[in-house]
This record gives sequence, structure tokens and C-alpha cells, in this order.
Amino acid sequence: MDKFIIKGGHPLRGTIKISGSKNAALPIIAGSLLADEPVTIHNIPRLQDIYTFNNVLRVVGAKVHFDDQNNVVHIDPTQVSYLEAPYDLVRKMRASFYMLGALVGKHGYAKVSLPGGCAWGPRPVDLHLKGMEAMGITISLDKGYVIAKAKETIKGGEFTLNPSSVGATVNLLLASVLRAEEFTIHNAAQEPDVVQLCNFLAERGANIDGIGTSTLTIRKTNSLSGGEVYNDPDRIELGTYMIAGAMYPGNDLTLTGCNAAHLGNFPEQLRETGTEVNIDGSIITVKAPEVLQPVSISTAIYPGFPTDLQAQWASMLTQASGESTVTDTVYFDRFSYVPELVRLGADMHNEQNTVKIIGKTPLTGASVMSTDLRASVSLVLAAMVSKNTSEVLRVYHLDRGYESLETKLNAVGAKISRIEAE
Ligand code: EPZ
Repeated sequence: MDKFIIKGGHPLRGTIKISGSKNAALPIIAGSLLADEPVTIHNIPRLQDIYTFNNVLRVVGAKVHFDDQNNVVHIDPTQVSYLEAPYDLVRKMRASFYMLGALVGKHGYAKVSLPGGCAWGPRPVDLHLKGMEAMGITISLDKGYVIAKAKETIKGGEFTLNPSSVGATVNLLLASVLRAEEFTIHNAAQEPDVVQLCNFLAERGANIDGIGTSTLTIRKTNSLSGGEVYNDPDRIELGTYMIAGAMYPGNDLTLTGCNAAHLGNFPEQLRETGTEVNIDGSIITVKAPEVLQPVSISTAIYPGFPTDLQAQWASMLTQASGESTVTDTVYFDRFSYVPELVRLGADMHNEQNTVKIIGKTPLTGASVMSTDLRASVSLVLAAMVSKNTSEVLRVYHLDRGYESLETKLNAVGAKISRIEAE
């Protein structure tokens, strides 16, 4: 397993281009299976999760060509015939569960493995299954697999997501657009990833009211066309590099290819730390303050503070002058990075779903272990501001969600080397 050797104490100055969004790409790749013609998607990042999902589509019979040098994926869904997604692929990446909605939505049948848990705990799919039953899909469980069956036309109805769920909203959209007479999702997720999927489906011919709101009403359409689309830039990668820019006096980053509209109130919260944030169209500049102010946050569904940025924010707060807290109301146990940051010298501890942080603590390099995608990058952020050298193990977690991370950071002054496992 590859690891990073990171020499800390070097300011970051220069330009980083933001890649396409992983969490926006996966739903529209799944959505391509609903089309009657080939689909081409631009701005697809070179990430392990994309390669994994492309293989899941190949298993069911879709033709998938990923021109990864140009970040373009071509999908031909017209020969799909094997309506199953196996455990050994679904367990690698939870979003493969989107195959349930795509296959039953298009073909009336799907057999998909239940996803496993993940590094920070159980991640249920009960809302996906109850929502599908509510619209008239028959769901049964068989040795860890979900079997979904649906007639040509199903009655639809309505279903309330409690809590609001990105994945459940995606799966219910995929399952309903070609089958449900009229189906309303209440408390639907409003993340940009869901809005992009709704627009992708509507542009293909789907009938969806309420796009961008928490109430989506879908009415059956008989077929969806193929075509060409452009994937959103990655708002979590963007937020991660904005936090990197704030963490060390002298840092001055220019981030290009951004969509600031996807950040909600995050830029304002970062400004409250004393960080200079300027937004000019698709370019965002971030300049670190001499003294970082502690700003406590609590995650929430969009447009609240993203849970996918809470580990990175906590890492930054170790360098703020004062006490602060980070609370995750979406995932109550997403704090596996805390003991690793403590190894670097951070003064922080958990109390239920809150981490309490006392800054500013000088950090000193050590060996630390990646546990999941966003926790891993919080360790890289901390290692870059630590004295001496750190070793970040199991960086395959990072390769799942950050395109060319060390290349992008080294180009602006970081000192990261990747040691490939034998
Ligand atoms: C998506 O996961 C993202 N993944 C996650 O990003 C992100 O952290 C999460 O949304 C929240 O924003 C992708 O988009 C591929 P949820 P998802 O269903 O859809 C509960 C990353 O780092 N829930 O919105 O699985 C659940 O336990 C990944 O890129 C149920 O109770 O998240 C959680 O508390 C990590 N029952 C809350 O909803 C269900 O059936 C939100 O989960 C489904 C969810």
C-alpha cells in the first residue's frame, strides 16, 4: 500500500485547477443506463471510484470507454442484459448501490448487493428500499442481495426522506423517471450532485418538477435520449484546497475551474477565520492570515456546512489561536482522524459527535494512518504545516477521491513524495 512522505513547513503559493466532481459524476454515470442511446460525459476525474464504477457498468453489459487523459467517459447502455451488481464490486464503493435504481428503473429488475459499512460506521440504505416500495417496486432480500422488481408502469405516490439522504434521492430518481405515473419525494436532498442528476435526466426527456428544491415530483416518461454533458467541478476538493490555503501564514493559492455557487456559506465561514477569500467567476483566491481565528462549525445537509469538509476544518482549527468545536450532525462517528492528528501534536478530543480543539498547537511530523477518504486528506493538511517529516500510510483512500493530489500540491510548494508499495 502506497504511502506519502511529507516534509512540513513549506508555504503553498500558486495555482491549482479543480477537477471534476466524484460525487456528481457517479449519479450521472448510473443515470446513463436509463438512456436509449450512448452518453458522453466530460470533466470526469481520474479517480479509483470512477474506474471501479465503470467496471460495475461493464459487468451488466454496458460498453464504457474512459478517455482518462481527456477526462471523458463514453457509455453505450444499449446492450445491457445482466441485471446484477455483485458484492465484490459493491463492497468496494457504496455508490454502486445506485445500480439498483438504474437497473430496475430501466429494465424492471435488479439484483444488487447490499453495500457494506465503511470506516466510520454503518451507512444504512433503508430509505432507498422503503422509497422504492412506496412507488410500487417489489423489494426482497436474498443472502445479502436486494432484488427489485417493477411493472412497466407503477403507481408512484409519495415518500418522505427522514433524514434527507443524497443516495436515497439519487436512487429514487433513477428508479422512477421511466416507470412511476407520479411520484413525489419530500425532504429530498438538494446537494448540487442531485441537482446535476435532475438536470441530466430532464435534458434527456425526464419529467421532473421542483429541481433544486426539497420536493421533487417525477412523472413517467417513456424513453430518455443519449447525448453529451459536462460534469460539475468538485466542491469538496475545492473546499479542501481553500482550507489548505488558510492553514499556514504566507499561503496564497489561486484555485481555477471553481463553481463557488456550490459552496453555500462556506466562503463566509472561512473569512471569519481571518482568511482572505476572493471570488471572481470561476477563480477563487485564498490568502492565509498571520493569526487564524477559531471558528466552530456544525455540519448539515446542503446548503449547510458539508460533512465531507469537517475533518479538513478540524485539521485547520489545530492552527487557530483559541478553542473551537466541530460537530457532525450527519454522521455522528466520522472522527477517525482525531487520534491521528493527536499523534502529530494536536490538542483535541471527542465528546459524542463533537470534537473539541485547543489551538494553536505546533505540530510535529509522525507516522499517521489514513482510514477514510476525507480523514486521510485532513492528515495531509496537518502534515504540511508540521515541523519535520510525516509519513501518511494507506493513501489509496486519497486516490479514491482526489485527482493528482500530490502533483497539485507539489506544484504550489508542498514537499510530498509517494512511496509505492513493493
Ligand atoms: C453521499 O453519501 C456522499 N457520497 C458522501 O460523500 C457524503 O458524505 C454524504 O452523501 C452526505 O453528504 C456520494 O455522493 C457518493 P446520505 P450517501 O445517504 O448518499 C442516513 C465522500 O467522502 N441514511 O446522504 O451515502 C445516513 O446514515 C462521501 O465523498 C439513512 O438513515 O449519504 C446519514 O446519516 C462519504 N438511511 C444520512 O442519512 C438511508 O437509507 C446522510 O446519508 C440512507 C441514509
